[in-house]
Amino acid sequence: MSLWGKRADMLEHESDPYNAEPPLAALAGQPVTATDTFYSRNHGPVPDIDPDAWRLLVDGLVHTPLELSLADLTARFAERTLSATLQCAGNRRSGLIAVRDVPGEDPWQGGATSTATWTGVRLGDVLTAAGLAEDAAHVCFAAPDVSSLAHPPQPYGGSVPVAKATSAEVLLAWAMNGQPLARVHGAPLRVVVPGWIGARSVKWLTRITVTTQPSDNYFQASAYRLLPPDADPDDAGPNDGLSLGPVALNCEVLIPSDGQRIAPGPTTITGYAYAGQDRAVARVDVSLDAGATWMQAHLDAPDGPWTWQHWRLDADLLLGAVQILARAWDTTGALQPEHAADLWNPKGYVNNSWACARLTVGAGPT
Ligand code: MTE
Repeated sequence: MSLWGKRADMLEHESDPYNAEPPLAALAGQPVTATDTFYSRNHGPVPDIDPDAWRLLVDGLVHTPLELSLADLTARFAERTLSATLQCAGNRRSGLIAVRDVPGEDPWQGGATSTATWTGVRLGDVLTAAGLAEDAAHVCFAAPDVSSLAHPPQPYGGSVPVAKATSAEVLLAWAMNGQPLARVHGAPLRVVVPGWIGARSVKWLTRITVTTQPSDNYFQASAYRLLPPDADPDDAGPNDGLSLGPVALNCEVLIPSDGQRIAPGPTTITGYAYAGQDRAVARVDVSLDAGATWMQAHLDAPDGPWTWQHWRLDADLLLGAVQILARAWDTTGALQPEHAADLWNPKGYVNNSWACARLTVGAGPT
């Protein structure tokens, strides 16, 4: 066990704030990720909240402001459970750093993506009980964890537009994989916004405020924005660049591992692909010859409309240096971009270039 009950082999980018992802192979073979394997991304210290004293405030552009305890939530609203993948916007940043450094940001690999079953109530049901005012346009989330990395230091927050907030899949969750939410994952209550970057799934939720504008919190207005490559992130003002919301089509190779030495002969290559909001993964191609020819992988059925899909392909590996390339297509016919160099941006978000694992195929110990 490592910090926060996570598996011992987590790749820990930082211990405080705690930022860690599982080795890619640990994500293989499990449509739903075990909680001890699920990545964790934090911008400040993990709060310790007394669930009995905790209250959720719902205010702003609503007809009836609410103050709800956990008991109120369970008594007043129907319980829902769904499987959803969370993916951090910094997932696969290491591939961008290989092109050019991204100062001040951790080199996340493809393990900042995991899937859990979440249990709670629909955010939309709570907003209906509060009664949205006519000019309600955004739903802002506030949490108590203060990030010293924000400018100026401030508690974490974010927002989503009303149309997403009131969609049936958006939950206020108190359980993950059938167990009470762990502290590091947001106990006692977090938002789960399936199909959107993980940053909007605010943990340790204490307040929901309905507004006409997106949240002015640093993590909505300044961070998690895609800047052009020549922009200086230290000079970028709030609302510069593109605000990240729905995730981009992406995929990763899980087994074999990049850098692995492996015996020649038949092997099964596995990975995940994820398309997010309003699209699904349609096809995953794998190449062993630098993209000259492609084979189609078998796609496992997803665990519902809001999860990744695992894929696999049986291949014969020949002696020598082998590069496995993988690329996903979605149901709009869009294909992932080929090169990370085309995607580089100053904060290192949304690397959805083709996945690549480089192997040495040779006789002898693997
Ligand atoms: N919520 C709070 N209060 N503080 C945070 O630092 N990090 C966000 C989001 N919610 C964060 C937060 C980011 S960037 C991600 S990717 C997800 O939580 C990660 O959720 P996890 O730690 O449960 O995997």
